[in-house]
Amino acid sequence: MEWKTIDRNWMFLVHPALTVLLTAAYQGQETITPMAWLMPLSGEPPLVALSMKRTRFAYELLKASSQFALNLPTIAEAKKVWACGVTSGRTRDKFALTGFTRLEAGRINAPLVAESAAILECQLSDDRPYGDHQLLVGEILLARVRADLYDEEWSPSFLACLHLRKEKFIPPDWSRLTKG
Ligand SMILES: Cc1cc2nc3c(=O)[nH]c(=O)nc-3n(C[C@H](O)[C@H](O)[C@H](O)COP(=O)(O)O)c2cc1C
Repeated sequence: MEWKTIDRNWMFLVHPALTVLLTAAYQGQETITPMAWLMPLSGEPPLVALSMKRTRFAYELLKASSQFALNLPTIAEAKKVWACGVTSGRTRDKFALTGFTRLEAGRINAPLVAESAAILECQLSDDRPYGDHQLLVGEILLARVRADLYDEEWSPSFLACLHLRKEKFIPPDWSRLTKG
């Protein structure tokens, strides 16, 4: 077998990756920032980890407020997700740009995206540098799903938005569900 070495973009070997829209706000400023580098970190207490570049406006806002939300978009929103990922909330109102509807949060001070299938409201509990990114840990204060989109067995009846690379997204293919 022949192997070839790649010297950059190795991170896309662990894509497609589930993409969420992180929302954060502070003193009247807000943003919607797509995030694909995330993972569950602990069940009890409920913790989620994210890797965010320090240059993001979202980083400024969540550092100032210590709060953020993770909104789970469906693949139908891929174009809007991309639009949020190539603009900054420093210069654009991303709700106006995309037409996403604001939803009031239950536990935090940040707008939520009403078109989401599920939403996690989080309190920032850790933030430390790793290379060119920050490792952020959020404690989940409130987790909600759209009742019509998830059944009792947690099978979603919607297609999540997985990021492949650049402007390319792919839905999970449920017709090829394989049991291990
Ligand atoms: C699908 C997708 C996933 C992304 N994932 C991340 C990520 O995990 N971490 C990160 O720092 N930036 C990520 N980005 C880049 C930010 O979303 C992008 O720089 C955004 O414009 C920042 O907006 P803001 O300045 O308003 O925070 C991603 C972009 C896209 C399109």
